Amino acid sequence: MSAKLETESLLLRPMAGRHLSQTLDIWTQPEVRRHLWGDKVIGEERAALEIARSQDSFRSSGFGHWAVRRRQKRRVIGSCGLLRVPHTEQLEIIYCIDSSLWNNGYGTQAARAVLAFAFDELQLPLVHGRCARDNIASLRVLEKIGMRPGRPHPHDDCEGAHLSISRDEYRGTSPPP
Ligand SMILES: CC(C)(COP(=O)(O)OP(=O)(O)OC[C@H]1O[C@@H](n2cnc3c(N)ncnc32)[C@H](O)[C@@H]1OP(=O)(O)O)[C@@H](O)C(=O)NCCC(=O)NCCS
Repeated sequence: MSAKLETESLLLRPMAGRHLSQTLDIWTQPEVRRHLWGDKVIGEERAALEIARSQDSFRSSGFGHWAVRRRQKRRVIGSCGLLRVPHTEQLEIIYCIDSSLWNNGYGTQAARAVLAFAFDELQLPLVHGRCARDNIASLRVLEKIGMRPGRPHPHDDCEGAHLSISRDEYRGTSPPP
């Protein structure tokens, strides 16, 4: 099973140490960190730990954070990942794109590729997505990849908007809740 993903405009690769510096630049952008890190400016050590955990997770479970690049360009422009909802076996999708490149469809392309991987390769039954209710762009991305509200989030402390999609809904064999 290859975790190298491609879209019309993007290449997604399991995150590795070589992506650290450019990813940290994006993870610390004010518009990004607000939604990703509770507005905290994380340092290199924290970002490196996140990448190391992702590498472990790819080895043990086949998923983690992917670094997002445009085809024919070297620079990392974002990240997209599948993370375990704490204390559960269920996964949720998380993503960010360099704020200078928003509204070009990259967030949706990356999220769609990771969702396809979750259902086609990992054979997951369900994927969750959540964000602050005022995070219109993220809500829009979740909707564009087919997620809908209606199921409870598996984490008791889930605040904000919660959407999800099942494998059957993704394959068009059952309607959303
Ligand atoms: C969420 C995020 C990844 C979207 O990336 P992106 O590359 O701009 O996404 P896309 O271009 O694929 O789609 C954005 C959609 O939001 C819409 N949008 C953005 N801002 C909007 C606003 N203020 N009002 C209405 N729609 C808005 C865009 O029009 C587009 O929808 P459309 O294709 O129907 O026109 C990016 O905004 C980001 O990195 N945000 C910070 C991190 C974050 O919030 N992550 C999610 C938490 S898990």
